Amino acid sequence: MNYALMHKNVVVALINIDDSSGTIIGIDEILNEKHLPVGTSYLSHHKVELHREALNSWWSNRAIPASRKGVDDALSKLGVYSTTQLLTRCLGLSLSDHYWIKPSMSPIKWEDVNFFTNDFSDDIGDVLFGYPKKDIGFNYQSPDNTSDGNLIKRWKIIDGKRCLVKGGSAPYHQETFGEVVASNIMKRLNICHIPYTLIWDEKKPYSVCEDFVTTETELVSALKVMSLRPKANHENEYIQLINICNEIGVPSIVDAIDKMLTIDFIVANEDRHFRNFGFIRNADTLEWIGFSPIFDSGSSLGYNKLTSQIISGEDIVCKPFKKTHNEQLRLVTNFDWLDISALKNNIEDDIRSAFVGAEKYVDESRLEAIVMSVKERISYLEMMMENHHSKKNKAGNLSDIQIDDEDMEI
Ligand SMILES: Nc1ncnc2c1ncn2[C@@H]1O[C@H](COP(=O)(O)OP(=O)(O)O)[C@@H](O)[C@H]1O
Ligand SMILES: [Mg+2]
Repeated sequence: MNYALMHKNVVVALINIDDSSGTIIGIDEILNEKHLPVGTSYLSHHKVELHREALNSWWSNRAIPASRKGVDDALSKLGVYSTTQLLTRCLGLSLSDHYWIKPSMSPIKWEDVNFFTNDFSDDIGDVLFGYPKKDIGFNYQSPDNTSDGNLIKRWKIIDGKRCLVKGGSAPYHQETFGEVVASNIMKRLNICHIPYTLIWDEKKPYSVCEDFVTTETELVSALKVMSLRPKANHENEYIQLINICNEIGVPSIVDAIDKMLTIDFIVANEDRHFRNFGFIRNADTLEWIGFSPIFDSGSSLGYNKLTSQIISGEDIVCKPFKKTHNEQLRLVTNFDWLDISALKNNIEDDIRSAFVGAEKYVDESRLEAIVMSVKERISYLEMMMENHHSKKNKAGNLSDIQIDDEDMEI
């Protein structure tokens, strides 16, 4: 079927989608190159070239990942074979950006259909959360068809606000509590973040955060920005990202990455891949506004490790730039913003309070191991800061210490 790929009310391209599989089978015409999704085109000889595979992969990556827990059950209840098939049923609309598809000849406008200002159905969310499929009047209009990530989740309108409700993984369900701990620590450090709170439903914990995307702004993942051009020989991924952001004009990126790497170190985040952070741009003017508030920090605090592993800290992995947190922390260029004393005033109580009522999932000894490991990392961070200050004083020039030779290895 023929559709227009839309960015709000801008017609970006005319495309053909095979409705039975949900995949793009043809691109008839590009009508607005500038509004193509970031990472689906590149500039060559002053002409924008669109990769059909890139557009298709952008489109299919809008669908719920097949690896999401509970997806197979949901698909069988819905009687479809893949999550890509669900995309056309909600016009590809999301609550993280402003792209959608309009059936050709349809008069509908962005204002009529977007989920930021129009209500959406709970039906898909219910099925994703394991409830039976409603027999009559099932409504597919929901941003749950386009949500990313492997944890069970759904969008809900709570007190008029669009909120992402996200579960954790068995047996500890620790991601939900971890989001709250990371939020509390970022609040202490004045790091721009999206706050998470905890709710319980049928005795299971869920983290809840508000949509940080608005009717004017949208989220573009670091992965999409990285795919704007290949990595040059002299770049590692960290430098590639900083350079591309400078090339396209995303402001204040180094400072924001310093803060993200620091919080990831403190909570030992194991899942900061390139889709778990990104940049905000104005969807109308396409102007880059800056780094997005930090979200998805719950895969941390040894969330899937045994208590003994939390204590030893040996098996903790690190993303996106380095394999260990100690190495990655060395990429931080400046700690002047960091008030380490803000981490010392009853941080233990802050962590413990996030786990109130969670004894069934996180027992006393596990919680104490978590508290101790955070305190140890804060002590290490303090040592790193002092080392950094003294190096900076000796070098007299920050650029001399920004990137060690070892960090440049590719
Ligand atoms: N508060 C939010 N506002 C808008 N988009 C969000 C928000 N939180 C997450 N997202 C989007 O939803 C995706 C999935 O959420 P995330 O928290 O990363 O889930 P998971 O823990 O399963 O990876 C993110 O990659 C991001 O694109
Ligand atoms: Mg994620």
